[in-house]
Amino acid sequence: MEHAFHGRTMATLTATGSRKVQAGFEPLLKGFTRAPFNDLDGLETIAANNPDVVAVLVEPIQGEGGLAIPDENYLRQLRQLCDDQGWLLMLDEVQTGNGRTGSLFYYQQAGITPDVVTTAKGLANGLPLGACLASGEAAKLMKPGSHGSTFGGNPVACAAALATLETIEKENLCQRASQLGDRILNDLAAGLKDCPGVRDLRGRGLMIGIELDRPCAELVSRAAEAGLLINVTAERVVRLLPPLVMTDAEADELVATLAPLISAFTSD
Ligand SMILES: Cc1ncc(COP(=O)(O)O)c(C=O)c1O
Repeated sequence: MEHAFHGRTMATLTATGSRKVQAGFEPLLKGFTRAPFNDLDGLETIAANNPDVVAVLVEPIQGEGGLAIPDENYLRQLRQLCDDQGWLLMLDEVQTGNGRTGSLFYYQQAGITPDVVTTAKGLANGLPLGACLASGEAAKLMKPGSHGSTFGGNPVACAAALATLETIEKENLCQRASQLGDRILNDLAAGLKDCPGVRDLRGRGLMIGIELDRPCAELVSRAAEAGLLINVTAERVVRLLPPLVMTDAEADELVATLAPLISAFTSD
């Protein structure tokens, strides 16, 4: 997809929709066609002109691409299109997964099942681990032994992932992410209501974006000076991915620190 981010390893680098990230790592792989995100007509056009398509790879919410949340029916309609065309639907939930958006995977909120889903980041709560899950026909494409890596499935990271998943379940952290996300979004909306530089406030659970009317990379260092680690993506979007175990008081502190910083920055 345009503006996609799937990482920097070989095939995923090719799938990543950013020339800046790809530059210097050519040659890229052949066989990828880029489509506009959140645009089923764009995919229909590709389907009509390209009989060789086998799969669609998409982030259910684009993280690096500026916290782009697709229309409510997008994933369901995309699932239908993939079924009609005989394409696999591959979701990259590396950023959206493991409770971040209010459910273990974001696709659950759309009521669909992908053929393939990738997960990493929060999976082992900081220890390095990623996983690629497949179901149905897609699961038959690989057999034990057909893919591996030196540290793949290493017991320490897997033990951490088991403990993480158990904790997410036991402490209801999906629900907690959803509640905290609503609290933070509401409070940010109140704190920034008189700030004309804010174009949009959006989020799902604890994946939150504040889109400004100007490039705002400088806010990262201003926030760090105030004791907050934030990130800016797509030049103008402040992205918050706070921990799922954050307390209400910490969430309030986050808003109380960040809203004035953004107000001051946009009135400079
Ligand atoms: C959606 C998504 N996919 C993939 C990746 C990259 O994962 P890795 O760096 O482990 O290749 C990221 C990292 O930010 C991401 O946000």
